[in-house]
Amino acid sequence: MTDPAARALNQKWFYPFVLPDGRKLPSTHDGRVDAIHITRACMLETWLAREFPGDRSNLQAMDIACHQGYYAIQLARAGFGRVDATDVRQEHIDDVDLLRQIYALDNLHARRTNVFEMPDTADHDLVLMFGLLYHLENPVGALRKAHALTRRACVIETQVVPHLSGMVDWGSYEYVRPLKGCFGIIDEIDETHAPEASVTGICLAPSTEGLLWLLRAVGFSRAEVLPVPDDGYEQLRHGKRVMVTAWR
Ligand SMILES: C[S@@+](CC[C@H](N)C(=O)[O-])C[C@H]1O[C@@H](n2cnc3c(N)ncnc32)[C@H](O)[C@@H]1O
Repeated sequence: MTDPAARALNQKWFYPFVLPDGRKLPSTHDGRVDAIHITRACMLETWLAREFPGDRSNLQAMDIACHQGYYAIQLARAGFGRVDATDVRQEHIDDVDLLRQIYALDNLHARRTNVFEMPDTADHDLVLMFGLLYHLENPVGALRKAHALTRRACVIETQVVPHLSGMVDWGSYEYVRPLKGCFGIIDEIDETHAPEASVTGICLAPSTEGLLWLLRAVGFSRAEVLPVPDDGYEQLRHGKRVMVTAWR
């Protein structure tokens, strides 16, 4: 089968993609997960309009852990001159390439790479890292990588765990340190074959307060949680996931 649209219709998709002629691509989950994708796309669009208004043709963006490229395609359609879409799984990169052909997006470039193996280039005006941090055993290393790749702003979306605060005895009750945040350990060891999962199986999910502290600690000048629309996806509305912007 060589027709790209026919190939796309013949497989299932994690995102609510629509062909240029209006036909919807089949879903891997019968649309049950669409709400989170639509809310995140809507939050990204609002933020882009405010922070990257006007002509974007001289700007470069990157989507780390792009999966089938839903947000990378959003950035390419939003007029970024070049969008690099990366993911550790080749099957996703092949899917992004198929959609690039279908949507005729010459500014979209997909390549397979592990986030930790990317060169520290700091040449992307905008870096997205959605849905990745809590699938990693080294989330701090990934935040350092995001900082190293970002020229201007980075947007991170992640599941978060409840925060713990307080003072911690640091060797003695007479020498105490404030807790800045915490991580929850999640087991994906039996799911590393899943298209959305960790590749090592050991996952550390941060608390929101910990994530904000870490973003500043790895070098971003400021970091803030983005507001969620009133009709947005429940996890984002209830602060169980967050979308955070971090500025160089
Ligand atoms: C939950 S999905 C999120 C996909 C997309 N960014 C989103 O938010 O809809 C996690 C993605 O991270 C990718 N991934 C997992 N570990 C990775 C790593 N070490 N480096 C790059 N990508 C990774 C997976 O292949 C998968 O596409």
